Amino acid sequence: MRLLTMSCLLFLLPEAAVLAQGIPPAEYAARRDSLAARIDSGFVVGFGAPDPTGSHGFSQLPGFRYLTGFLEPNAAFVLVKRAGKATGTLYTSARDPRRALYDGFPPDSAAVSRQTGLAVRSLPALRPAVDSLARLGLPVYHLRDFASADAAEQDSLTRGARFFAGLLGHHNGLEVRDAHPIVDSLRATKSPAELAALRKAIDITVTSLTNTMRSARPGMYEYELEAMVEGGFRRAGADGPAFGSIVGSGPNSTQYHYVQNDRRTAAGDVVVMDVGASYRGYAADVTRTFPVNGKFTPEQRAIYQLVRDAQAASERVVRPGVSFETWRDTARAVLAHGLAKLGLIESPDATFDPPWAVGCGANPVSCTQAFLYMAHGLGHGIGLEVHDLPRPYRGSGSFQVGHTFTIEPGVYISTRLLDMLPDTPKNRKMIAKVRKTVERYRNIGVRIEDDYVVTKDGVEWLSRAPREVAEIEALRLVSSRTRLTQQIRKSSPQR
Ligand code: GLY
Ligand code: MN
Ligand code: MN
Repeated sequence: MRLLTMSCLLFLLPEAAVLAQGIPPAEYAARRDSLAARIDSGFVVGFGAPDPTGSHGFSQLPGFRYLTGFLEPNAAFVLVKRAGKATGTLYTSARDPRRALYDGFPPDSAAVSRQTGLAVRSLPALRPAVDSLARLGLPVYHLRDFASADAAEQDSLTRGARFFAGLLGHHNGLEVRDAHPIVDSLRATKSPAELAALRKAIDITVTSLTNTMRSARPGMYEYELEAMVEGGFRRAGADGPAFGSIVGSGPNSTQYHYVQNDRRTAAGDVVVMDVGASYRGYAADVTRTFPVNGKFTPEQRAIYQLVRDAQAASERVVRPGVSFETWRDTARAVLAHGLAKLGLIESPDATFDPPWAVGCGANPVSCTQAFLYMAHGLGHGIGLEVHDLPRPYRGSGSFQVGHTFTIEPGVYISTRLLDMLPDTPKNRKMIAKVRKTVERYRNIGVRIEDDYVVTKDGVEWLSRAPREVAEIEALRLVSSRTRLTQQIRKSSPQR
């Protein structure tokens, strides 16, 4: 009955949507219930993103968005769990009417409360509310508000970090715990609604990237390819690119996160395009590498095939329960054997004296010669962040049904790899053996990155853009054949 009244009311009084689209309101409530179920007794405090400081519009923090769906700046969220019962409150900020003429008027709190299912109060009421919870002696779970998990270590100046510093100064002995491990474990497994948004982001990415690869020609600037692929995202209804598009040709193909995209391509270059559309906040992340003139050289093909073999091998081992370590080792082993066969390293297990500031650190793999050619992780979760949960590049863990993630091996060859090495006997020996081969393959950077979801029997490949050598070369063959047909049609007399 209550449901009926509510839906009639919504029908009679249509109101602007407050929540992020695509995820039903009940799902947000279920996520909060899951969080509460993992807390014995205590309260969670999290801040959303502040007003944007640039001119690129507002983007909500992923953990906050996950729990509330609320897409306005300067909000905070408190979830209290006591005596087995959980209650959530959203703290929102007013907007000066003059500012609202620029940024829009925020939704009124009654609508926010109706749609989020949360009590709504104004932000200045947050501190007194938290003070009284702290006085009860309940532990507080802090959902830290760093902009991206990659920057978590550097976070000290965010609103949340300052709020907590002030809180601790006032409440001696307040027990502070990190809410992220709990929220992260929830976020790692995607619901059907999340997967639907992600599939759409990936499909848009695949279509636009494939069209761009088909249209690429030597002499085009990297930014023309960037414009083509990003234009395709927006035309298909995506929010826009989920991250700065990487379009690296020739020597730029060897820089993992090259984003200047201002070089003119030339015949003989490979182009690495690492791009992803965001759809309703969910980020795709797909990389293709292709020869700009349509056909791989023998050297490019050899490197490409090696990267592809590493990807295929690690793709084959994924199923629920398989450890991230097994998965990483599988790709690394294929790469190491292939690199040794090509003469780019002394042997699959050969080591070197690394130039990394941390030395070998806790990671002996980073001192193998093979690592030099791929000094990045094999993949990461995808979702509300490009580098979402799970984080299979960090430590232990295993794949579970509903994980969405990338597999993105690469091999990047540049003489800089040798020039940057410390001058030690071990490195001199290695350099003497491999320099000629490195010169032969230099300026070939290849990354192949695909998106997957773990299913109960294995894995589903989501980003089905052409990726085999023959498929990539065929893209251009097909398009030149199409052009030829069009020319013939144009020049033949009309009947
Ligand atoms: N697009 C950045 C990455 O592949 O991780
Ligand atoms: Mn990527
Ligand atoms: Mn990636």
